[in-house]
Amino acid sequence: MQPSRLSLALETGALALPGEGRILVLRPRGGTDLGALPKDRVEAVQGFRPDHDALAARGYATAVAPGAGYGAAVVVVPRAKAEAKALVATAAAAVAPGGPIAVDGQKTDGVDSLLRDLRARVPLGPALAKGHGKIAVFANPGPAAFADWAGGAARRLPEGFVTRPAAFSADGIDPGSAALAAALPARLPARVLDLGAGWGYLASEVLRREGVEEVHLVEAEHDALEAARANIADPRARFHWADATRFAPGAPFGAVVMNPPFHAGRAADPGLGRAFIAAAARLLAPSGTLWMVANRHLPYERTLAELFREVVELPAPPAYKIHRASGPVAPPRARR
Ligand SMILES: C[S@@+](CC[C@H](N)C(=O)[O-])C[C@H]1O[C@@H](n2cnc3c(N)ncnc32)[C@H](O)[C@@H]1O
Repeated sequence: MQPSRLSLALETGALALPGEGRILVLRPRGGTDLGALPKDRVEAVQGFRPDHDALAARGYATAVAPGAGYGAAVVVVPRAKAEAKALVATAAAAVAPGGPIAVDGQKTDGVDSLLRDLRARVPLGPALAKGHGKIAVFANPGPAAFADWAGGAARRLPEGFVTRPAAFSADGIDPGSAALAAALPARLPARVLDLGAGWGYLASEVLRREGVEEVHLVEAEHDALEAARANIADPRARFHWADATRFAPGAPFGAVVMNPPFHAGRAADPGLGRAFIAAAARLLAPSGTLWMVANRHLPYERTLAELFREVVELPAPPAYKIHRASGPVAPPRARR
């Protein structure tokens, strides 16, 4: 394996770790190479369940939010600039003053622009380039230096919903989800599952339908699920911080609603939506129905036709497709 940018920073002395104290690593992916760091001192903070679980399986101490008093931090730069800046602010609040904070990212995730912004406000060490990315280190000036970058605050939409910056569609109700909600019937089965529930919009619509006794919200992004908890006080709601593709509840569902994710990092990945369709087929009762919205260009028809007996395309705004798929035919081995 190629040595990582982190090992380059340590070898060159650009990053000098203190002799003791925990090392905070913010938002590493499940496969991020952290081998250059002393494993027993690392705390990996990652709220996205599949990555969180992969890091824990590799033996790292994991958390969904940082504590305080770390000796050093590494920020793994995410794609969204506002989130990257918020992570830098989080690191500055969590690391002891003067402790090193390394910022490590891919060019395609905008590391150059983040380093430029950093250089404008703190003395930043040299940027070391390797593997289509860069790493640079600064001594923590304290949280005040990045107070305006902190982005953890919840935001309230005109409809009354609370959203969080890391959640999908944090600025407002997604038009695709609104179209799906409008297409739902007045009556739904007793047990409904919302796969990839985000901050809870679809689940809140499901709870307005007759016949619903339980809605299970499954969401991988911890912050988004926390927002959903704040938005839905209804005792019929159940919240699961879980990977939808591995979710295993006790009993089958009468209906699944979903607006599945279609991006893994920067790249569009229809494989994710297909995995969600397979999960819906696996989790539905034999007489159950999937209600799904997707951007019109995404190719899900074949998977739907393979996994359901009846698939109907419902009227939808031009940018979207809404499907109602009934009678899952998931292979017997995959069913409970
Ligand atoms: C297109 S958004 C829809 C969110 C919400 N249902 C809405 O309509 O606003 C897809 C959601 O799936 C979540 N997600 C992505 N991968 C997931 C996974 N493996 N398991 C569960 N949720 C996941 C994302 O965090 C995101 O909230």
